Amino acid sequence: QKTYKIAVIPGDGTGPEQVREGLKVLHAAAGKEGFALETTVLDWGGEYYLRTGEVLPPDAVEQLKRYDAIYLGAIGHPEVRPGILEKGILLRLRFELDQYINLRPVKLYPGVETPIAGKGPEDIDFVVVRENTEGLYAGSGGFLKRGTPDEVAIQTSINTRKGVERCVRFAFEYCRKRGGRRKVTLCGKTNVLTFAFDLWERVFNEVGEEYPDIERDYAHVDAICMWMVKNPEWFDVIVTDNMFGDIITDLGAMLQGGMGIAAGGNLNPEGVSMFEPIGGSAPKYTGKNVINPLAAVCAGAMMLEQLGETGAAARIEEAVKKVCAGHLKSLAAGRMGYGTDEVGDLVVSHL
Ligand code: IPM
Ligand code: MN
Repeated sequence: QKTYKIAVIPGDGTGPEQVREGLKVLHAAAGKEGFALETTVLDWGGEYYLRTGEVLPPDAVEQLKRYDAIYLGAIGHPEVRPGILEKGILLRLRFELDQYINLRPVKLYPGVETPIAGKGPEDIDFVVVRENTEGLYAGSGGFLKRGTPDEVAIQTSINTRKGVERCVRFAFEYCRKRGGRRKVTLCGKTNVLTFAFDLWERVFNEVGEEYPDIERDYAHVDAICMWMVKNPEWFDVIVTDNMFGDIITDLGAMLQGGMGIAAGGNLNPEGVSMFEPIGGSAPKYTGKNVINPLAAVCAGAMMLEQLGETGAAARIEEAVKKVCAGHLKSLAAGRMGYGTDEVGDLVVSHL
């Protein structure tokens, strides 16, 4: 029997509850499809940092490289200054494991309420391919005359030809595999960021030439925000840089019914990938059995898909659809009409 080794980082706040339900579903789906998951829990996060004074053990990245995938709950602790855990865990792992794609589906499930009037599941079904190791997140910059009235803070966006190209190529390949509307939209700001998005646009057009079966489209990021709300059905695959991708995927999460269901994958197609619900640790709901575990469940399905277990991934996807359409009153924490554990059980019952 095929067995996958999964590193599980439940993390902070409601992360552990979400991951618990996610694993319940993943193990059940694996059982039905005849494979197994061997999980190792790594207790990294806010508590670990407060206890040990270090964000990650020195060999954390080496440890993680031994697994087939990483399943992450949420990082963020009210007693830790913002930025320490995010940069020290989440961003560090994305960078050091070279997870250069952040894949974030925006998909409205049947029965889920969207704030976009008059739009249904057939209109809201696209994927954002966010570059995940460069741009403004590269940490390049500094201060001039810090703390003086003449202070200048500089934050530079780093865009390498290789980094942009592998991201854009992934987007076209993914679009072809997805078999949707067969269109890739580059989300940029060529009218202002004339260096960064000049490179992106050139690479987009060059690589796009190799995919004559896929329509190429461009929109500025501000316009994309408008169109995502007004005409979400225009989009199939959106490819963009790290910062714009961060912003538009929160907007996308709202279109699909909120953080309760929004999942993402940090992919290194040649290495170890990491899957997570994209919402935060929601500390105020910790231990109350009210958080929606579907985002973690969907992240788990993405993980199985990446591992090649497409049958199990599709099973989970269908079960989530049934739970959304037939059971939940809302996707919001505390308003689902079921407890966190019951939502996990419902998904299992529909597998
Ligand atoms: C996300 C988050 C992170 C990001 C934060 C927590 C560093 O917002 O995964 O979208 O900005 O990438
Ligand atoms: Mn974000």
